[in-house]
Amino acid sequence: MWLKNCNFARLFCGIKDSEKRRKKNMETFEQLCQQRRSIRKYTAQPIEKEKLDYILRCALMSPSGKRLNPWEFYVLTHEETLRRLSGCRTYGSGMFDTAMAAIVVALDASLTDTWQSDGAIAAQDILLAAADRGLGACWCQVYQREGAEELVRSLANIPDNLNVLCVISLGYKDEERRPYDPDKLPYQKVHWC
Ligand SMILES: Cc1cc2nc3c(=O)[nH]c(=O)nc-3n(C[C@H](O)[C@H](O)[C@H](O)COP(=O)(O)O)c2cc1C
Repeated sequence: MWLKNCNFARLFCGIKDSEKRRKKNMETFEQLCQQRRSIRKYTAQPIEKEKLDYILRCALMSPSGKRLNPWEFYVLTHEETLRRLSGCRTYGSGMFDTAMAAIVVALDASLTDTWQSDGAIAAQDILLAAADRGLGACWCQVYQREGAEELVRSLANIPDNLNVLCVISLGYKDEERRPYDPDKLPYQKVHWC
């Protein structure tokens, strides 16, 4: 029993240490941007409900043209549904083979002509919020991808008046991606006028 407690304590401290290290490397917004990479392989560790709530709160605070909030977010956590999502595209949707959750970003285009921009900003906030909580995430494009929209719509029960922009896969990382190196960014894309 004592040994069991010891192992548990060690495991718990180990998790706390890695959490501390992760937080230390993400103290600034720039560090968060550096470390956010598309993650397409996930462990079987379930995502805590509080983390999903945190991510969704961030999405709901994202800016939208005239604050019309044309987005709707559909959260999928059932394993069978997630695995079926991986077939929504011939290529580019394999992240749902192991994802532990997914958030569909769907928008009402009749509300505003800025719906795609509004959706993209909300999706980016989801990606950053996930990275901030130590989760991996990846954008899967759905809008204007052959057959993908119909499948996602039917799996999440999304009404016809909404366009499905993308689905974000979520989970604890099961692959390492190198953070961006500030010395190697494409600075030629920046034009000081
Ligand atoms: C609009 C958009 C569409 C994307 N679509 C997909 C996709 O369908 N499948 C996929 O695996 N990754 C997709 N990605 C992820 C990109 O491949 C990834 O962001 C890019 O390669 C840069 O890598 P990074 O996210 O690690 O910085 C998409 C990203 C964006 C912004």
